[in-house]
Amino acid sequence: MRSPHRLLILLFLALVVAGAANPATASTHPVHAAHAIVVSVHELASHVGVKIMQAGGNAVDAAVATGFALAVVHPAAGNIGGGGFMLIRMADGKARFLDYREMAPAAATRDMYLDPQGNVIEGASDIGYKAIGVPGSVAGMVYAEQKFGKLTLKQVMAPAIQLAREGYALSWEEAVDLHDRHLAEFPESRRVFQRSGDYYKPGEVFRQPDLARTLERIAEKPDDFYHGSLARELAAAMQKGGGLITADDLARYEVKEREPVRGTYRGYEVISAPPPSSGGAVLIEILNILEGYDLGKMGERSAQSMHYTVEAFRRAFFDRAEFMGDPDFAKIPVAQLIDKRYAAAWLETIDPAHATPSKDLKRPAVFSALEQYAAGHPPVMAPHESNHTTHYSVMDADGNAVAVTTTINDWFGSRVTADGLGFLLNDEMDDFSSKPGVPNGDGLIQSNTNAIGPGKRPLSSMTPTMVVRDGKTVMVLGSPGSSKIITTVANVLMGVVDYGMNIQEAVNAPRFHNQWMPDVVNVEQWFSPDTVNLLQHMGYDVEVGLHYGTHVAPYWSDAECIAVDAKTGERLGASDVRDGGKAVGY
Ligand code: GLY
Repeated sequence: MRSPHRLLILLFLALVVAGAANPATASTHPVHAAHAIVVSVHELASHVGVKIMQAGGNAVDAAVATGFALAVVHPAAGNIGGGGFMLIRMADGKARFLDYREMAPAAATRDMYLDPQGNVIEGASDIGYKAIGVPGSVAGMVYAEQKFGKLTLKQVMAPAIQLAREGYALSWEEAVDLHDRHLAEFPESRRVFQRSGDYYKPGEVFRQPDLARTLERIAEKPDDFYHGSLARELAAAMQKGGGLITADDLARYEVKEREPVRGTYRGYEVISAPPPSSGGAVLIEILNILEGYDLGKMGERSAQSMHYTVEAFRRAFFDRAEFMGDPDFAKIPVAQLIDKRYAAAWLETIDPAHATPSKDLKRPAVFSALEQYAAGHPPVMAPHESNHTTHYSVMDADGNAVAVTTTINDWFGSRVTADGLGFLLNDEMDDFSSKPGVPNGDGLIQSNTNAIGPGKRPLSSMTPTMVVRDGKTVMVLGSPGSSKIITTVANVLMGVVDYGMNIQEAVNAPRFHNQWMPDVVNVEQWFSPDTVNLLQHMGYDVEVGLHYGTHVAPYWSDAECIAVDAKTGERLGASDVRDGGKAVGY
């Protein structure tokens, strides 16, 4: 259930995006770059990454530089106070996945967001100090730089420090965004981002001296953020505001290198995010089911191809709800979920002419491991997940590639700025199930797999993904958008592989989404009424846009992707017109 303040934010954002360009009339040509490219939601951040590669850095150097720059120029989602996932695939074929997701502090408890009557306390898990998970972004970016970069941390952080100190001119959207009313609830956020009520105007230069100083301290002594004076200052600010994070929590934080999830789709290898993200496993399960159909022949966005795609989405999200969580706290049966025999059995359950009601789904009995697990873990409604994350993709001249999806969860996170440190903290605790073990409004039982627990990482949908052909990375994909991240990445990938689109056309193409529950198909506003009619005749409850009470968001997600031209080897960058990002290359 969404809170009234979320609805207001969504309405506000809908008004902000109303002026955005229409993918249907946007350029269908990706940006061509002979050597290297960065695609992100902010032109300045993309330029930073490119400059770092021109100065001799590799894709990892560029990704880390871009990440720190986004923390300056895109404070609504770019961050050093949140977490993320970085998928790296070097030109030699080695793939690595860095998990620097936020972690619940030691004092976190399963029922911390419930009142004495056992009801969820409105807003407690998403606004303010108690919503904050131990941030992982600094650890993750420093780890990546030190292990896989060619330059020094100081070199790659220098552009972000300069942007913070000298400032940058705010666009109209950025200036409007900074009016966020929840930022105003926290004096330090109001001081830093709203100039204590004298709001920044479009075109005005926004300088962040506190953040510049914090970034300098990290560049000088990265360990300080978790083990030194920065950790102590951050912990003191959290304690003062009533938060749970202590210096010990920060000291305990660690980056985890995990095995990425791997699958194949029509001759391509797909490499993606493992748990605690559900993204990779759900994406590959979807693709495995769809491999059984000749989608290209049915036609791009035809009702028939959409029908099969939605049925695959529905089944994979049903499994997501049941099986996904932090792999350090529960055994997640990923191998079975991405097994092609399992997909083939799911495909048998799809009626070619009719929608399957979500409530009637029955998991095929292929693997006893799935059945045993399912018996103890009834399916759950996904908790609310924020749309406000950001993704960026990088490829260098040698063919090394990096896909990063990073988040502070909601737009401007918890809205808390650490006293004197100049950066916003996440509200990632909201990605846990706040009320496990009790039937929700739809009569479904919340599972323990994603219950709050000390040291645990909340379930994510972030899906940084690479597609490989003949040993070479040919696509770097990703998007924000909570559960819609997964269907957005699937839609973009299928746009290229099944429907022969170039990467920009695939990013532009209208999106559709189903996540098992609620049992609706959301379609972006550019679908024809004829297609909607055909889907309705198949039994679908179709909603145009995303409906939040009386408010409707006409479109969603912000894919920032790269493909490689098979003939010329050029890097082709596709930034999503829906959110005004930029592909920059050389
Ligand atoms: N907070 C969004 C996600 O992790 O999927």
